[in-house]
Amino acid sequence: MSDPTRPPAVGVLDQGPAITFPPGFLWGAATAAYQIEGAATAGGRTPSIWDTFSHTEGRTVGGHTGDVACDHFHRMPDDVRLMAELGLKSYRFSVSWPRVQPGGSGAANAEGLDFYQRLVDELLGHGIEPWLTLYHWDLPQPLEDAGGWPARDTAARFADYAQLVADALGDRVRYWTTLNEPWCSAFLGYGSGAHAPGRTDGADAVRAGHHLMLGHGLAVQALRASRPDAQLGITVNLYPVTPATDSPADADAARRIDALANRFFLDPVLRGSYPADLRADLASVTDFGHVRDGDLETISTPLDLVGVNYYSRHVVAAPVEGEQPEAYWRAPTCWPGSEDVRFVTRGVPVTDMDWEIDAPGLVETLQRVHRDYTDLPLYVTENGSAFVDTVVDGQVDDTDRLAYFDSHLRAAHAAIGAGVPLRGYFAWSLMDNFEWAWGYTKRFGMVYVDYDSQVRIPKSSARWYAEVIRRNGLAAQ
Ligand code: FCB
Repeated sequence: MSDPTRPPAVGVLDQGPAITFPPGFLWGAATAAYQIEGAATAGGRTPSIWDTFSHTEGRTVGGHTGDVACDHFHRMPDDVRLMAELGLKSYRFSVSWPRVQPGGSGAANAEGLDFYQRLVDELLGHGIEPWLTLYHWDLPQPLEDAGGWPARDTAARFADYAQLVADALGDRVRYWTTLNEPWCSAFLGYGSGAHAPGRTDGADAVRAGHHLMLGHGLAVQALRASRPDAQLGITVNLYPVTPATDSPADADAARRIDALANRFFLDPVLRGSYPADLRADLASVTDFGHVRDGDLETISTPLDLVGVNYYSRHVVAAPVEGEQPEAYWRAPTCWPGSEDVRFVTRGVPVTDMDWEIDAPGLVETLQRVHRDYTDLPLYVTENGSAFVDTVVDGQVDDTDRLAYFDSHLRAAHAAIGAGVPLRGYFAWSLMDNFEWAWGYTKRFGMVYVDYDSQVRIPKSSARWYAEVIRRNGLAAQ
C-alpha cells in the first residue's frame, strides 16, 4: 500500500528519446580530497579545518571523520583503473592544501606533491584528463587560527599555494578550478557553522566570501602567468530561486536569497561588482569596509570556463503574521540579513538529503549564467544524488540514482539545444565518501564503498553511465 503522505516514488525513468551530445563532450566524475583520501597524517600532512571540526564532539553525524575515508591515498592506482573501466574521459579531484603545504605557508611538501604527481600520471596513462580543483574546503588549520577566510591574508596564502601546485603539476594538468563552492565555505563555514570551521557570524561570512574570491583572482593571475595554456575557472554552486506565490513579498524574498546564493559570487567574478541590492540587504550586517580598491578588478580576472554545481532549487516566501504551514521553515543563519525568509517544501520527490529533485532547474541555471553573465564554456562540475543503497548478492541496484542522472543529463542536453555552450558533465560522485557533516551516512557514489573492507562495487548507475559515455548520449527510454 502506498503511503499518501509520502511524495511519489522516485527512481522511475522518465520516457525520453535517444539523445546525443556534441562531439568531444567531456564526461567525468568528481571527488574531493578530504572526502576520499584518508591517510590524514601520512607523509607530513597536517590538520585542516575539516580534521579539527570532525574531531570536535557533536559536529558530524556519529562523530565520523575523514581519517580513513575511502583510503584512496593508498588505493589510488586501483581507483584510477576503475575509472578507466567506466570509460571516464576526465576525473575531477581536489588537492589537499595541508598535504602539499603543511600549515598553509612556506615550502612545498615533496611527499604530498608526489601523491598528486602519481595520480596525474596514472590518469594520463589511462587517457583520462585530470581536472584539478585547488580548494575543496580543507583550509590548513594554522591559517584558520590566524583568522581564516574572514582575514584578508588568507587570500594571499591561497595564491602562494596555487603557485606551488602549478609549479609541480602545471606541465601535465590542463583544467584548473580554483575554488569549489565558495558559498559553502563562506556561509556554512562562518555563517551557520554547519561546516568547518563552524563559526557563526554573518559579517565574517560575508568577509570570508570576499576573501575567497580575492584568493581566486590572485590564484588565476598566478596560474595564468606561469601556465598560459591552462584552462582556468571556478566552480560555483547555483540554485534557481523561485517565489512560493506571486505576491510581491515572496518575490522580494526570492530576490534576496538569489542575491546571497548566486549573485554574491557571479557578479564580482564575472562582472567585477557586487549587486547594489545585495549591499543594501546586508547593510545591517556589514558596511563592506573589507573591500579595497582594486579587489573587484582582481576578482574579475578573465577566465576560460565556469563550473556549475547543481543539485536542487530553492523555493522561498516572505514571513507572514501568524502561523505559516509547517512546509515553510525559517532560513538558517547561513543567510545573513535574510534569516526571516521562509524556505518552502513543495512535497515533490526528494533524495536522501531531502533535496527536492528538480531537473528543469538545471536548464534554468545554465541558461541564466549564459544569458546574464558570460559566453564562456560552461561545465557541470557536480550533479548527483544520495539514496539509501543496499548490497544484494554483491550488487547495488540504484535505479533512483540512475533516474536522477538520466533526468539531469536530459536537462543538460536541453540546455545545449537552447544555445548554452555546455562542454562537459561530472557526476558527483565517483564513489561513496565522507559527506561532510553527514559523515558516511549519505551515499552519493556511482561506486559503492564498503567502509569496513574498502571493497568497491560499481552500482547499476555506474554501468549505465559507462554506456552513456560510450555512446556519447542516452538511449531512448
Ligand atoms: C557539494 C560538495 C560536494 C558534495 C556534494 C554532495 O556541495 O561540493 O563535496 O558534498 O555537495
